Amino acid sequence: MPRRIVVTSALPYANGPIHMGHLVEYLQTDIWVRFQKMCGNECLYFCADDTHGTPVMLSSRAAGISPELLIERMEKEHRADFDSFHVEFDNYYSTHSPENRNFSELIFTRLKEAGSIVTRDVEQCYCQKCRIPLPDRYVRGVCPRCKAEDQYGDSCELCSATYRSTDLVNPYCATCRSTPVLKTSKHYFFKLSDYEQRLKDLIASGHTQRSVANKLDEWFGAGLKDWDISRDGPYFGFKIPGEENKFFYVWLDAPIGYMASAKNYCDRNGLDFETLWNSGQYELYHFIGKDIMYFHALFWPAMLMGAGFKTATNLFVHGFLTVNGEKMSKSRGTFIKAATYARHLLPEYLRYYYASKLTDTIDDIDLSIKDFIGRTNSDLVGKYANLASRSGQMLTKRLNGMLGRMDEQGRQLIDKMAAEKAGVIESYEGLNFAAVVRTIVSLADEANRYVERNQPWVTIKTDPEQTRTVLTAVINAVRVLTIYLKPILPKYAEKVEKLLNVGGLSFADVETVLENHRIGEFERLFERIDEGQVNAMVEESRASQGAEAPASSSAQPGVGGPFKPECTIEDFAKVDLRIAKVASAEPVEGADRLLRLRLDVGGPERTVLAGIATAYKPEDLVGKIVIYFANLKPRQMRFGLSEGMILAAGTGGKDIFMLSADTGAVPGQQVL
Ligand code: MSP
Ligand code: ZN
Repeated sequence: MPRRIVVTSALPYANGPIHMGHLVEYLQTDIWVRFQKMCGNECLYFCADDTHGTPVMLSSRAAGISPELLIERMEKEHRADFDSFHVEFDNYYSTHSPENRNFSELIFTRLKEAGSIVTRDVEQCYCQKCRIPLPDRYVRGVCPRCKAEDQYGDSCELCSATYRSTDLVNPYCATCRSTPVLKTSKHYFFKLSDYEQRLKDLIASGHTQRSVANKLDEWFGAGLKDWDISRDGPYFGFKIPGEENKFFYVWLDAPIGYMASAKNYCDRNGLDFETLWNSGQYELYHFIGKDIMYFHALFWPAMLMGAGFKTATNLFVHGFLTVNGEKMSKSRGTFIKAATYARHLLPEYLRYYYASKLTDTIDDIDLSIKDFIGRTNSDLVGKYANLASRSGQMLTKRLNGMLGRMDEQGRQLIDKMAAEKAGVIESYEGLNFAAVVRTIVSLADEANRYVERNQPWVTIKTDPEQTRTVLTAVINAVRVLTIYLKPILPKYAEKVEKLLNVGGLSFADVETVLENHRIGEFERLFERIDEGQVNAMVEESRASQGAEAPASSSAQPGVGGPFKPECTIEDFAKVDLRIAKVASAEPVEGADRLLRLRLDVGGPERTVLAGIATAYKPEDLVGKIVIYFANLKPRQMRFGLSEGMILAAGTGGKDIFMLSADTGAVPGQQVL
């Protein structure tokens, strides 16, 4: 019987773009889900945007749009990012949905009936100018313990003291800098401690990794505190039933968003939600990062227990991404957005690299740029792609694309590869992707040695039939390697399937071989990474720092985020701004947001790749006048060379404004 499995990844915040840190999680989950499907299991992968809370409300205010419009745009961006990295959800939904409202109200009501909800008066900071109650991260001031200036309302970065925002000395609103007033209001609390024993039993039953359980022990030791689940308006979220101006705290409805996404899927596909979500027929797994363990290992299962729902089969926690051994950093250009990466490099390189690093522990994962380039070029290109392309090309060009039969030596090679199947499956299942990759690399080495020993490029001249015998074994080796790699490299696998002229490969195909079979068309597989592409990506990330609000919950409110460092008039004078006329515009295949523009600038035409496809149709741009940054160093991007940049302003999505009135300006004219 195939297993039936429901899988979730944490819901990304709608107040920022997907970055390379997030991708650790979505790629880890996607690889696992693809693996399950390839084993013949029924596996459903659900996710959604996490849309509620103060940061979204304030960003939308700053942009002068409604929060609904902001989250709609963000969802589009997130979906495009996931698509480009081949993260394939069975349903991607939103926490701002009717299903989520219903479940949130239902769970709240059931918890209330169970006696797990109490109300208490709470004193909090309120900004009269912004007219909002201030979350801890939006109040700053002097640390009450060490007196350090400019600290957040929840903890001090210098002395690590934790406190309440009302304890700050000389507090001010992080958005408008005015002094907040204290207000007292009634808040709703969830009595987490009611569930202490049941939570301990759950964790003891192996609900999550050992290292996570150890961390939880610390929290149990410190005592479980009541959890404040309400926020006063104005707040972007769901109203609490029976209240006029109180809303569910975003973290109450966020995990319920998993259920809402599942319910929405069930309704659209004629499945019974109760069976899928709440029966023993389906296993349920949550993938999360270690920063949100408290919510997923304590609050969430306790809420489910109190409301009469089953808890997850397992909680899989991963570590954080570091780049070159350090936290991602905007100033070093290592805070890299998914979209920026995809403009410069093939997403499958990253899937492979992360897989080669991922284990079942919560240790951090380091992306070392040197190692990334090295592994891609030596393994992906040097070991797998080469094996497939050399043998594929020789077969199609010199041997009519026909496979023969393997000899004893070839059989032995393939048997050896097939014998690793159980180990590969076990490693995938246990989230030890690094072990999978190690096995595959050593098998590929073996296959390459077989090629070296048999020298088909020599024998092709003297003994074509012997060469066919050897290449038949090589093609079968490529086939097994591709099956093992397919959850990690789905697009590569598709190309190899085309080359082998076979249908969708799965683990069940490992035991069979391809003989006396006509192979298909040869397509280029992977190109080597050039260090310049990576440098350009880092440069672009560094250059765009501050141009957008940070992605995490600590987002600083305000249009466009903090200003960049000062620039002198001499610096500015280096910038050559010209009038340009759009001569032609076309979509860029594989990049939803890019347009390729040919610009008339008075001399030879220039090509610019501009991220404006969300706002403009190519045909509407032809003939338009734009301002062109003419002496920007040309950059080699994945989709070609970009010679300069056109200037635009706006909040993104549909709102990207360029100088485009027909002013009578002449192409090439300097802008004063
Ligand atoms: N919205 C919450 C999750 C709600 S789930 C009911 C949230 N969003 S997030 O956008 O900040 O993060 C989404 C996921 O990405 C989290 O599991 C988080 O741990 C993970 N990561 C975010 N930054 C990361 C790194 N730098 N490295 C690895 N994972 C990271 O938390
Ligand atoms: Zn304010």
